[in-house]
Amino acid sequence: MLDSGTNGHVCRSKTVDTICVPMNPVLGELQFRFLEPSDVEEVKELSRDCFPINYPDSWFVEITSSPKLCSLAAVHSSRIIGMIVVEVKPFTSCNHEDSDLLSCSTCKDAQVAYILSLGVAKQHRRSGIGSVLLQQGLDHLQSSGRLKSDCKAIYLHCMVSNLTALKFYKRRGFREHSYLANYYGASAQSADAYCCVKYINGGEPPWSLSTLVVVVNKICAALKGFMSSVPCWSNRLLQFVRRHVWSSANSLPTRRL
Ligand SMILES: CC(C)(COP(=O)(O)OP(=O)(O)OC[C@H]1O[C@@H](n2cnc3c(N)ncnc32)[C@H](O)[C@@H]1OP(=O)(O)O)[C@@H](O)C(=O)NCCC(=O)NCCS
Repeated sequence: MLDSGTNGHVCRSKTVDTICVPMNPVLGELQFRFLEPSDVEEVKELSRDCFPINYPDSWFVEITSSPKLCSLAAVHSSRIIGMIVVEVKPFTSCNHEDSDLLSCSTCKDAQVAYILSLGVAKQHRRSGIGSVLLQQGLDHLQSSGRLKSDCKAIYLHCMVSNLTALKFYKRRGFREHSYLANYYGASAQSADAYCCVKYINGGEPPWSLSTLVVVVNKICAALKGFMSSVPCWSNRLLQFVRRHVWSSANSLPTRRL
């Protein structure tokens, strides 16, 4: 069911979930809805337009029908022109290559949000659709109670050669966490990937050499500030001693021997 909401919002209800999003200023008729099993062929087409990866048919069935995934479509003129697929899951169920996302102090019982896919059809890029999809996907997870305070990180994999997407995520608070050689294997033209992560709700990366360098730098900067202020308060101390201690000592009556 599709409803026109107030203030230029579009709302779509599906069983228990409802999403309301602002109308895209560039594409005035842009609408958002959940992916459905009947979308498989269209999603395959979009995926070919977006990703140089050969996903198996089972993957398309899963992202269009699995209730554990949040799969949203951006629709224009009855065509799916963008999609996002996100899953919130226990950190402990992450694949081996992502098992170093969180520090031990934050990983116990933590959840993480994994962006399986975010893509916009080539001809509709740079119109703000990718940004809105990302925001809507996360907002929906939050409003449906799946993205709670125990969710400590949002992460994804992105080809090392995909500079546009890496820049897109960096500008939205993500950072490259690890380099995964041959991550996509034979299923893609360019195989290496970055795991990119954005920490939320106090989530932290585990300690590493680079973390140590950052901490040491911070301590050095603090020490430098402290040392530069030493002459300042040592001067004040000297003045105080001169004014109060020295002058009162001088004013004592001299004892005659
Ligand atoms: C990454 C991707 C999803 C971004 O989608 P998009 O719809 O182009 O994203 P947006 O339009 O919201 O933002 C893209 C850039 O265009 C800019 N932009 C947005 N509207 C604009 C406009 N009207 N005019 C000019 N620039 C605009 C944004 O500021 C943004 O730049 P920034 O990242 O430096 O801030 C898209 O490039 C894509 O589908 N790539 C292929 C699939 C992929 O790589 N997915 C990610 C890996 S999972």
